[in-house]
Amino acid sequence: MYSGKARAYTNIALIKYWGKENQELIIPMNNSLSLTLDAFYTETNVTFSEDTSEDLFYLDNQLQDSKATLKVSRFLDLVRAKAGSSLHAVVKSQNFVPTAAGLASSASGLAALAGAASAALNLQLSSEELSRLARRGSGSACRSIYGGFAEWQKGDSDETSYAVNIPSDSFEDELSMIFVVVNDAQKDISSRDGMQRTVETSAFYDGWLQTVPQDLAKARKAITDKDFTALGEVTEASALKMHGTTLAATPPFTYWSAESMKAMNLIRQIRTSGLPCYFTMDAGPNVKILVERKNEEALLNALKDQFDPQQLVVAHAGPAIEVLSEEEA
Ligand code: ADP
Ligand code: DP6
Repeated sequence: MYSGKARAYTNIALIKYWGKENQELIIPMNNSLSLTLDAFYTETNVTFSEDTSEDLFYLDNQLQDSKATLKVSRFLDLVRAKAGSSLHAVVKSQNFVPTAAGLASSASGLAALAGAASAALNLQLSSEELSRLARRGSGSACRSIYGGFAEWQKGDSDETSYAVNIPSDSFEDELSMIFVVVNDAQKDISSRDGMQRTVETSAFYDGWLQTVPQDLAKARKAITDKDFTALGEVTEASALKMHGTTLAATPPFTYWSAESMKAMNLIRQIRTSGLPCYFTMDAGPNVKILVERKNEEALLNALKDQFDPQQLVVAHAGPAIEVLSEEEA
């Protein structure tokens, strides 16, 4: 019996990943840059043994259906192939993050699965190799291997597409991200389907791709210079451009709801009134706000006029993936 356990934290992209060059290998169209957060995470335990004749996947203590299990099994096949093993596994995962609600459960979920499964079979992967493996489960997961800021370097092959940590002299510790949870139900269009539809049909997709290199350069410089305003501006611009592509897809779609608009308008108003803060959004209606930690309380107070305190979750920079145990029993 071979077991491994890992805890991985979600990350939110400041410069978004949106579109794949290779669907099977999950090679993206563009580099992306993220901040790993402490508030949302996944803990996963994987046990390979001869006692089970099929893979079983429990998420939040519930045995998952064949569709969800197949996704996990396909991922475990990659780990089994690397280890030369044919054992099946029982996977038990707890999401301390709402699943499939645009709060990045796929990032923490697949990173934790990669960490736990590779530890169970004693693969002894470097961070770069673990990032490559996690990428095969979900693109954004490759960034959750690292704490703080990470950049996913798109590369052009399985070997060359992985994330690296961005040195920041602890700038991330000066930041907070406040989640405005307007809806934590599962979304209709997954990030995977949404980005594919956009790449294939959106008239705006080329425009998106063209400006990513300059946005990345701005974000990297802002991190080096510890320039909050520059980082906030480029974060908000990247999210708006990404979401703009969905409106020109066929059929068109949006992840925004009326509540998302309300949050974004409020953030603009608060900013105009002198408190620097910037929003980003992913494949769901929830809004995430980047703010300096010293202004966190003031922002929370301003938001509390319009949103229930229970809808507001404060996150700070989170740590790298933690592999909690590795044993052969
Ligand atoms: P999100 O916005 O939460 O990342 P996605 O639609 O991108 O939503 O991804 C959700 C999918 O990620 C789930 O349907 C499931 O396939 C996968 N996932 C989420 N949590 C886990 C987990 N703990 N273990 C394995 N897979 C997970
Ligand atoms: C909008 O990583 O969930 O959150 O690679 O198909 O699993 P797959 O997609 P996923 O997409 C994340 C998209 C995003 C932006 C980002 O995190 O960079």
